[in-house]
Amino acid sequence: MIAVEDVTYTYPGAGSAALDGVSATIAPGTWTVIVGPNGSGKSTLARLLNGLLAPSAGRVTVDDMDTADEARAWDVRSRVGLVLQNPDNQIVGTVVEEDVAFGPENLGVPRDELRRRVDEALAAVRLTGLERREPHLLSEGQKQRLAIAGALAMRPAYLVLDEPTAMLDAEGRSDVLGVLRELQAAGTAIIHITHDLSEALYAQRVIALKHGAVAYDGPASALLADDALMASLGLEVPPLARLVSALRGAGLDVGDARTAEDVVEALWPS
Ligand SMILES: Nc1ncnc2c1ncn2[C@@H]1O[C@H](COP(=O)(O)OP(=O)(O)OP(=O)(O)O)[C@@H](O)[C@H]1O
Ligand SMILES: [Mg+2]
Repeated sequence: MIAVEDVTYTYPGAGSAALDGVSATIAPGTWTVIVGPNGSGKSTLARLLNGLLAPSAGRVTVDDMDTADEARAWDVRSRVGLVLQNPDNQIVGTVVEEDVAFGPENLGVPRDELRRRVDEALAAVRLTGLERREPHLLSEGQKQRLAIAGALAMRPAYLVLDEPTAMLDAEGRSDVLGVLRELQAAGTAIIHITHDLSEALYAQRVIALKHGAVAYDGPASALLADDALMASLGLEVPPLARLVSALRGAGLDVGDARTAEDVVEALWPS
């Protein structure tokens, strides 16, 4: 479990705190979405979850390891993978396979095990066959999946992704979400920062940040139903959620449809 306990974080020299009194826990294997307006502290929280930043006050523990304990820094970072907001900032290798190998190589993973991890990570993000490709020749969606593979090669129990679909077209977005669904099915906890609540339909839980504090923590359905809170967070009800609630209002139960295909299947079972 990741436990964030009454955490405050102030950037060096900043006048006010980026996060102020935030508490939350994240259980293994779950899917949590984090939303909030620009500047609400989402990326700061992401960096606190894997120990890239240490709290100014309060405590973050990862499976009982305190992230502020420098002796455990590598353990924490290999357990909590972080994919940054801009994948270009994360690319370090001159070819795809080197890029993916970078993290585990630094952990001292032996050669043959390294090969296995790289192959597995590339297969998980569907980049098999592009091992020798130069990263700058990849599409934006492929680059984002490469960044995810780099985090996966560390075999993290928790994977934090900071707006992983923001720069992608519809196809790249659905590729990345598909990969995340497979990873969760295989047991990895997904902590997914996004501006797009339609992506929250996959999550068991949504945490909304506002001005560095938790404004909501619960299921997506209750947040979507609270118009005042949605407005105060600057969030829009996704079209699919609107459709599902309109159908329900008309007496048609489509269950917990998450995609347009789910709705079609519920209305006209094949
Ligand atoms: N390196 C930094 N130094 C000083 N202040 C920072 C730094 N990074 C972020 N901040 C400030 O901390 C607050 C939270 O920023 P953060 O990047 O965590 O927000 P965010 O929710 O991720 O925003 P966005 O949606 O734009 O990505 C903002 O007020 C921001 O200006
Ligand atoms: Mg951010």
